[in-house]
Amino acid sequence: MDDLRNKYLGQIRDASDEDALEQVRLAAVGKKGEVALQMRELGRMTPEERQEAGPRLNALKDEINSAIAARKAGLEDAALDERLRSEWLDVTLPARARRQGTIHPVSQVTEEVTAIFADMGFAVAEGPQIETDWYVFDALNIPGHHPARAEMDTFYMAESAGTDEAGNPFVMRTHTSPVQIRSMEKTGAPTRMICPGRVYRADYDQTHTPMFHQVEGMAIDRDISMANLKWCLEEFCRAFFDVDGIELRFRASHFPFTEPSAEVDIRCSWEGGTLKLGEGDDWLEILGSGMMHPKVLQAGGIDPEEWQGFAFGMGIDRIAMLKYGIPDLRAFFDSDLRWLKHYGFGALRAPTRHAG
Ligand code: DAH
Repeated sequence: MDDLRNKYLGQIRDASDEDALEQVRLAAVGKKGEVALQMRELGRMTPEERQEAGPRLNALKDEINSAIAARKAGLEDAALDERLRSEWLDVTLPARARRQGTIHPVSQVTEEVTAIFADMGFAVAEGPQIETDWYVFDALNIPGHHPARAEMDTFYMAESAGTDEAGNPFVMRTHTSPVQIRSMEKTGAPTRMICPGRVYRADYDQTHTPMFHQVEGMAIDRDISMANLKWCLEEFCRAFFDVDGIELRFRASHFPFTEPSAEVDIRCSWEGGTLKLGEGDDWLEILGSGMMHPKVLQAGGIDPEEWQGFAFGMGIDRIAMLKYGIPDLRAFFDSDLRWLKHYGFGALRAPTRHAG
């Protein structure tokens, strides 16, 4: 019995972690452990022998169990000490210098636009960038033979991408307008949403990149009019550009998905080669808009006899260039660190439009 005692107390002392300790426990006092085997031997002993060996075996079992408990507590303490040592953090150290990363002007402007429209009660919606041509064109009153479809420089997905259940092929969305349809399907009327996101067209020069960003806006209610549209957009531009004397011009235009349609220009000057908003005799187009065409409302499952809506679509990159004086659109997507450092915003320095 002394041999057993020495053997197991030694192994317990030497157990280097909780797993090893558990192995020792099973071998010693587990159901099939050595102490249990000895206990079974008691049955074969004479009553006198049993009276002597029984209590000693029980005492040994207790001793081993408490040694294991003590070692276990010791191992846990050591593990905690090790964690405290390795995860130690000096909260009194000064903050690290500003890192290389900055907030991209597109992210920054998306934030600003979202905040301004959120204040006017517009929710933020999203839609897929790979979209069926039904949502991108047909549902927006652009049938197959319509010139607008040809003018869009659409990227078509490979034929192997298949079609949706109705047989419509997939395209990269050329504008955020399909999200109008998806939103109507989801929320019905009345509704108010904006949708910022990526759009794609096969085009590349100083003012065009194959991927760029738009924000779509849509408001549907029982008696929405052009006056509401005009107020909303003026309110937005005043808040966004934050320049005294911002002036907009609504110019009659044509889009298949709106009737009537208007393009909106902003007054500016190019004097001395730099762009100034709110003064001068030049006008810069910043968005397209109009009253939603009855067919578009219908495509979204909304009764045009009962509801009306306005919609607009604006280039996010374009208004970012205007607001922050960035000359070349292509540089937006070059990932040149020098450009990002110059035009990007530090996380704690980005201007905010969120209230409070
Ligand atoms: N989808 C148009 C484009 O990409 C922009 C646009 C014009 C959106 C008028 C609208 C709108 O919602 O009403 O050029």
